[in-house]
Amino acid sequence: MYTEKVMDHFEHPRNVGEIKDPSGMGTVGNAKCGDIMRIYLDIDENQIIRDVKFKTFGCGAAVATSSMATELVKGKSVTEAMKVTNQAVMEALDGLPPVKVHCSLLAEEAIHAALWDYAQKNGVDIEGLKQPKSDISEQDEDEDY
Ligand code: FES
Repeated sequence: MYTEKVMDHFEHPRNVGEIKDPSGMGTVGNAKCGDIMRIYLDIDENQIIRDVKFKTFGCGAAVATSSMATELVKGKSVTEAMKVTNQAVMEALDGLPPVKVHCSLLAEEAIHAALWDYAQKNGVDIEGLKQPKSDISEQDEDEDY
């Protein structure tokens, strides 16, 4: 049911962890299953994503899609990172079962939330970026998970 690439990223997820003093951090919840994802971004002065890490309570598909999404945004500019949609991530993984498509949204939304956080802190305007609706970081700031 899962492609080889999905299994590879599930079994060997890239970029798991956290970044101390990140340039931007976003935490989002999945409306469908209630799972949570947090993305940390380290962005340099040229607006290039130097490093990215993720942590999730999501399922295997969420782990695999986040792993791939973080690989795709690493080294890119913040504007290019906006093109890493859940669709692009699913294509890079050779597809996901339809019931798992909602899981792939977590990575996209958390990256957007982290970019929003970075943009707010630095007074930067990122084309096409809107305030993420599902950003829950304000409510759970003190929680450590
Ligand atoms: Fe919740 Fe996949 S079932 S992220």
